[in-house]
Amino acid sequence: MTAQSALTFKTTRSASPKSQAERDAILANPGFGKYFTDHMVSIDWSVDRGWYDAQVKPYGPLSLDPAASVLHYAQEIFEGLKAYRHADGSVWTFRPQANGLRMQRSAQRLALPELPVDAFVESLKQLVSVDQVWVPSAPDTSLYLRPFMIANESFLGVRSAQQAAYYVIASPVGAYFAKGVAPVSIWLSSEYARAAKGGTGAAKCGGNYAASLLPQQEAYANDCPQVLFLDPIEGKYLEELGGMNVFLVKKDGTLLTPSLSGSILEGVTRSSLIQLAKDRGHKVEERKISIDEWIDGFASGDVVEAFACGTAAVVAPISCLKGRNFVAGNPNAPAGEVTMSLRKELTDIQNGLKEDRHGWLVRLA
Ligand code: COI
Repeated sequence: MTAQSALTFKTTRSASPKSQAERDAILANPGFGKYFTDHMVSIDWSVDRGWYDAQVKPYGPLSLDPAASVLHYAQEIFEGLKAYRHADGSVWTFRPQANGLRMQRSAQRLALPELPVDAFVESLKQLVSVDQVWVPSAPDTSLYLRPFMIANESFLGVRSAQQAAYYVIASPVGAYFAKGVAPVSIWLSSEYARAAKGGTGAAKCGGNYAASLLPQQEAYANDCPQVLFLDPIEGKYLEELGGMNVFLVKKDGTLLTPSLSGSILEGVTRSSLIQLAKDRGHKVEERKISIDEWIDGFASGDVVEAFACGTAAVVAPISCLKGRNFVAGNPNAPAGEVTMSLRKELTDIQNGLKEDRHGWLVRLA
């Protein structure tokens, strides 16, 4: 159990919020992560004081000393979750406690302070209640919430920071990929690993994503919007994509996904899909999956669908896997049926269109 935090938020409203016309223009075509709401949350932390000075304040640049340790040693973690507008106008989020707990695990690994989960959830409520008008209502849109924490102590010695800050910013979003939910091709990185055994792969820290960018460029150069990494030891087993978990669907309806090896991220979407698939009677195997099992399975017809999943893209059908000397699957293949029906069930629950039988939704406003 997480101790109740005693933080009280002070709210300062922006003196220059976007006009309704400006906001409507953004909400009509938000893209992903390009626009931000009028406010943000900040909470400071120091070894001596613990968490203090919780605020909702106007969105704006941070003031950081050039010696702030995050700028030198990348002591940073983040989270991603979404706020959804339901038909009655209310605003909800999905399993925020799971994100709050994961942020605590990331904090442990990056030697940052743990924010109590109730303060994490409260920070989302505080921001969304002030920026409610920014939650879009069109299909496949939401307000993406990005909590993050940085070490902001001015000190160049290499040790865990004694001063840090937690923030939440929010961005109205539509589809993550430029082509919406159309099937994507995935590039297999044969040269680079995403994370090492004993490294930070299971933590949601900026460094993991920085390490994925060069292989991601290689993916783009090969017409693939995402890159797939294999395990760092044998270079043989599926781990995860640049920013998403991966699933295969077999002909007999079994779902396969890499087990949590210690070097992949424990996705909230991943675990929710495992639950929904089991509820429908699918067998779900969380285990080591070799790259050959995927490639040979596509060729033999034993693997009939593949998809990527994460908060940002929700579920993205994968049409084919490409590597240096091969293409497995068909770049023009349509989205798989199991893939799209799981996607629909999950998004219907998130949008209040289907019963929330697992009690996953939390009201924000
Ligand atoms: C998410 O799906 O929320 C992710 O982690 C991807 C993100 C880094 C854009």
